[in-house]
Amino acid sequence: MPSFPITRLRRLRSTPTLRRLVRETRLSVDDLIYPMFVRYGSKARIPIKSMPGQHQFSVDLLVKEAERVVKLGIGAVLLFGIPRTKDPLGKSGYSKTGVIWKAIKALKKALPELCIITDVCLCEYTSHGHCGVVIKSGKEFTVDNDETLDLLSKMALVHAQAGADVVAPSDMMDGRVGAIRDTLDGHGFENVVIMSYAAKYASAYYGPFRDAAGSAPKFGDRRAYQMDPANVREALREVALDIEEGADIVMVKPALAYMDVIRAVKETFEYPTACYNVSGEFAMVKAAAAKKWIDEKRVVMETLTGFKRAGADLILTYHAPDAAKWMKSYKS
Ligand code: PBG
Ligand code: ZN
Repeated sequence: MPSFPITRLRRLRSTPTLRRLVRETRLSVDDLIYPMFVRYGSKARIPIKSMPGQHQFSVDLLVKEAERVVKLGIGAVLLFGIPRTKDPLGKSGYSKTGVIWKAIKALKKALPELCIITDVCLCEYTSHGHCGVVIKSGKEFTVDNDETLDLLSKMALVHAQAGADVVAPSDMMDGRVGAIRDTLDGHGFENVVIMSYAAKYASAYYGPFRDAAGSAPKFGDRRAYQMDPANVREALREVALDIEEGADIVMVKPALAYMDVIRAVKETFEYPTACYNVSGEFAMVKAAAAKKWIDEKRVVMETLTGFKRAGADLILTYHAPDAAKWMKSYKS
């Protein structure tokens, strides 16, 4: 039992002003990155069923939506491409006529201050939906690590040439951060930042995203290259390798079920640490809120604050525009 009366702990919580004065964690719009889906075509704004409020935008309407988001104070977006055509090598992902190329160009022109981050992975562009080059033999398949590195490097370079500020490799191949860094530096893009999905788990929470991006694997799963949800020490090894290879920002993904991983990564490396509040986490909140089982605003703000308290400096979240609005009025 504590030797002081309980009021000693409660005293500092007794008024909103006192609570504000002693608050340890402060969420800011500066922490938020908004993931957006850009598709081929024009005048398209297609709702993503399992992610209420999120859409696939054609480039023209993506720019409009980005303008709205910037007005709310959000400084960075993460772009995923949905191409017209897919093939086994994901060629549309590193083409200079592809949807991401056009999106970066258009956003940079309309919103020069907006920080553009691009997801660098093959799965959105490959016909089989895997994150790398697949070698099949009968029912078995493997992903060719080194061949994939060449394509990822090419993709990162094309994004940089279009004007991306940050490239974010999400494939989990070994050595991709080093390969991308070399390629970028070799072409004069020393200033392009690498945010690596360093500790990315093989998670069921990506379900809605795979609808959103049409990137579900046609066979097998991603367990051979994404991490086992049971492991945290392995996450630290993954992060250490990515930092050695040149990652500037390291990410933990998903976020909610991995708060201990966020904390461990932050305390071990003291690097800018991002967490990805993924599609399934978003969908659960939206579904419960639609049934009025939870107070959406309070749950979202509490969750995002929790990420920061755990050690995240940057938060990738589909709630970003709502949270930016709520931050202006939120009192806890
Ligand atoms: C592509 C990628 C995925 C996500 C981000 N980049 C899907 C996956 O790895 O299956 C998931 C994002 C989310 O669920 O919100 N590699
Ligand atoms: Zn992928």
